[in-house]
Amino acid sequence: MSEQQQRWDAVIIGGGAAGLFCAGLAGQLGKKVLVLDHAEVLGEKIRISGGGRCNFTNINSSPANFLSDNPNFIKSAFSKYKPQDFINLVKSCGIAFHEKHKGQLFCDVSAKQIVEMLFSECQKGSVVIRHPVVIEQVTQDMHGWIVKTNHGVEHARSVVMATGGLPVPAIGATDFALDIARQFDLPVTAIRPGLVPLSFTSDEFSNLSELSGLSVPVKISAGQKGQRYGVCYFDEDLLLTHKGLSGPAVLQASSYWQEGETITINWLNEVDCDELFNDEANRLKLTETILAIVLPQRLAKSFAEQKNLLGRKWAEVGKKDRQALKDLLTRWTVKPAGTLGWKKAEVMLGGVDTRALDSQTMMSKNHPGLYFIGECVDVTGHLGGHNFQWAWSSAYACAQAL
Ligand code: FDA
Repeated sequence: MSEQQQRWDAVIIGGGAAGLFCAGLAGQLGKKVLVLDHAEVLGEKIRISGGGRCNFTNINSSPANFLSDNPNFIKSAFSKYKPQDFINLVKSCGIAFHEKHKGQLFCDVSAKQIVEMLFSECQKGSVVIRHPVVIEQVTQDMHGWIVKTNHGVEHARSVVMATGGLPVPAIGATDFALDIARQFDLPVTAIRPGLVPLSFTSDEFSNLSELSGLSVPVKISAGQKGQRYGVCYFDEDLLLTHKGLSGPAVLQASSYWQEGETITINWLNEVDCDELFNDEANRLKLTETILAIVLPQRLAKSFAEQKNLLGRKWAEVGKKDRQALKDLLTRWTVKPAGTLGWKKAEVMLGGVDTRALDSQTMMSKNHPGLYFIGECVDVTGHLGGHNFQWAWSSAYACAQAL
């Protein structure tokens, strides 16, 4: 290495949520940090997140909200940097926010405020950010790490891989971190799209395809005992779309669902079906009218129609038909044809196997100086701000160690 060549304490590849946060923290700890990214615009995933308002954390975020082949891995990073720590930072920057649902915190004004905050933290740490830059090669020699780009060669004591996952390829998502992991013989677990709408071809769904746009609170379950992530149960809103099922309930379930399996939906959610069916006040009403007490009218009509009970007075509906209707309403089991894929997914399930990383620092156990943070690691959160919290917590753990 010549005298002129700058030696960085850390080169961080990927200037998204985890990369920028890690850079700012390490810079403020006195480290010389360079961020490299191939995108024209940085922080795009943050900008489009939470419908433009960024659900930047969840007050209740805990290891129970994550899927990983090694669920204990995140405990250490979470104990070092909690949701409240990020909330304090957001507050200290004067960004107004509110709780929307089940501990989910959103910016009042715009997700751009979070991006600006991360840039401002980087500035405070004198971080150098270069983009768009093509990363051509990452290698190691006896002096440290060498990152070859289309703009020259950088030398560093450490390299941090923070290139995220494959969702939304249109804004520059890649699995580059996984290529680097494999190059250095780190294991990578199977990846697939998570928090993604499900598509259907089944007859059952064709009965509902007319109802696109309806949103209903449901209980949903997916997954199988003994499988990678086990079974899940969520109480959330389900959205009927012309392509299939979406909304928070289905996005949550999609992370547990595997191809070929069914999902089960209780359309009545908290409503006691027997109480509704046995209520004397409903005896003389039409079936669809009774269902419309607890469901949107169009959906109520569709369910009555599916069981040939449309226009039938409840008093005239026999035990067998009542049971069939109850099963349809409370145990609707359907086999999705697939997901809408990386284009519509919010996260990547799987990634760099956590068993190859030190949970205290995010560093490769076999390659000192090589770190992996954020979404590229086999740690995936539920919907609701948990994925950003993982980005912040893993970035923090890494920054302290650089
Ligand atoms: P992130 O994707 O943020 O950053 C990766 C960076 O690496 C990018 O800047 C990219 O350009 C760069 N990069 C990739 N490949 C490269 C290469 N080969 N060379 C150089 N640079 C490269 N989560 C949440 O908690 N709350 C929410 O509200 C939402 N909402 C949401 C909406 C949508 C539409 C999506 C797609 C995702 C969300 N998420 C979310 C998930 C959240 O965006 C995600 O978990 C984090 O952005 C992950 O942070 P990372 O820093 O790991 O990757």
